[in-house]
Formats: sequence, structure tokens, C-alpha cells
Amino acid sequence: MSFASESPVILQRLRTETRPYHDALEQNEFNQALNAGQVSAAATQWFLAKLYGFLKPYEAQLDQHQFSPAWEIEQRHRAHLILADMPPDASLPLCPDMPPLTTWPQLLGALYVMEGSTLGGQVINRQLAKAGIESRTYFSGYGERTGPMWKRFCQLLTEEATDANQAEIVDSASLTFQKLHAWINQP
Ligand code: HEM
Repeated sequence: MSFASESPVILQRLRTETRPYHDALEQNEFNQALNAGQVSAAATQWFLAKLYGFLKPYEAQLDQHQFSPAWEIEQRHRAHLILADMPPDASLPLCPDMPPLTTWPQLLGALYVMEGSTLGGQVINRQLAKAGIESRTYFSGYGERTGPMWKRFCQLLTEEATDANQAEIVDSASLTFQKLHAWINQP
């Protein structure tokens, strides 16, 4: 049996249906510079400021919801890590056009996107270290706990997914990717 057929349906659907959005997001200016070995501290801080502008209102929505301790939701707040990477006078505008994050399935879809970004963060962290960029608190993220934190998240998400809410979770993940993409590409 292949890995794909063993993976819970919700995770398969999320991965498959949001892949085009992930691939589009990966083409952002910062990541292109990173891949070309031409990243600068300024470009890194620009990207971090964008992420902050999205993470902050997203985390405010998470705070409106009661999570059981298993979610370790406090640890999954990461906007404050960005502040450690920024100059104290940095301008940090917030994204004005967030996806709707009020229902439980909507939150689950957005959590999938933002928790999944910790995986790419590990790759970015290594590339930044190689380029001698110091601002890496955010991308270091969960550090060596990244794998276990992701695995645990996937288990919890799978437990919460039902036939009735699956479509709403996937739609929310797709919309979260699209809104993040639009925000990052907005000058
Ligand atoms: C803020 C932008 C990004 C978001 C929101 C994001 C989101 C995600 C998500 C949701 C996953 C989980 C996919 C799954 O279901 O397995 C993932 C995985 C991954 N992402 Fe990203 N990502 C972002 C940027 C990047 C960038 C720039 C890179 C390249 C350096 C990258 C590389 C990866 C890698 C290597 C994985 C793991 C794939 C695997 O192990 O199967 N991501 N990302």
C-alpha cells in the first residue's frame, strides 16, 4: 500500500488541493532571492514584516476560541518571534483582508496552512544561516520539535475532521493561502 492511501483523507485533500497555492507562494521575491543565493537582511526583514502582518490578526482569531490543552495553542503562537528579528522601530502593518476565521472548520484550515509553514521555515532557516543572515528567530520556530509538532497537529486535525466539515476545512485552507499570497504580493 502506498503512503498516500494510508494518509487520512483530510490530509490528502489538503495537500493535493492547496499544492498550487503553495507553489505560487514559494515564488515570492524573498524566496527567489534566497534560492539564487542573493538574499539580504533587508529582504528577510521585509518578508518577516509581511508574515507578522498576517500572523498577528490570525492569532487574535485563535484567541477567540477555546482549545483543549492537547493543541498546545500558546506554543503555536509565533508572531512574537518575529519581533526579535526586527529593529525596534520597524513598521509592521497588519493585513486588512484576512480570510474569515470564525467557525471551527475555518480555523482548522488556517491552522493547517500556518502550521505547515513551519516545515518550509526549517528549509529557509538553513538557507539564511548559509547566507550569514542573523534574523532567524522566527524561521527557527519550533527547532528540533518541528517534526513532532507537525505530526501532533496532523493527528488532532484528523480527529476533528468529519464528512460534514471536510469541505469547509479545505476551502478555508485554500482561501488562507490565497489571502496570504495577495498580502505578500501587495506593495
Ligand atoms: C509563508 C509561506 C508558506 C506557507 C504558508 C507554507 C505552507 C506549507 C504547508 C501547509 C505545508 C504542509 C504540506 C503537507 O500537507 O504536507 C508545507 C510544507 C512544506 N513547505 Fe511550505 N509554506 C510556505 C513557504 C514555503 C517556502 C518558501 C518553502 C521553500 C523553502 C517551503 C517548503 C516546504 C517544504 C519543504 C515542505 C515539506 C514538504 C513535505 O515534507 O512533504 N514552504 N508548507
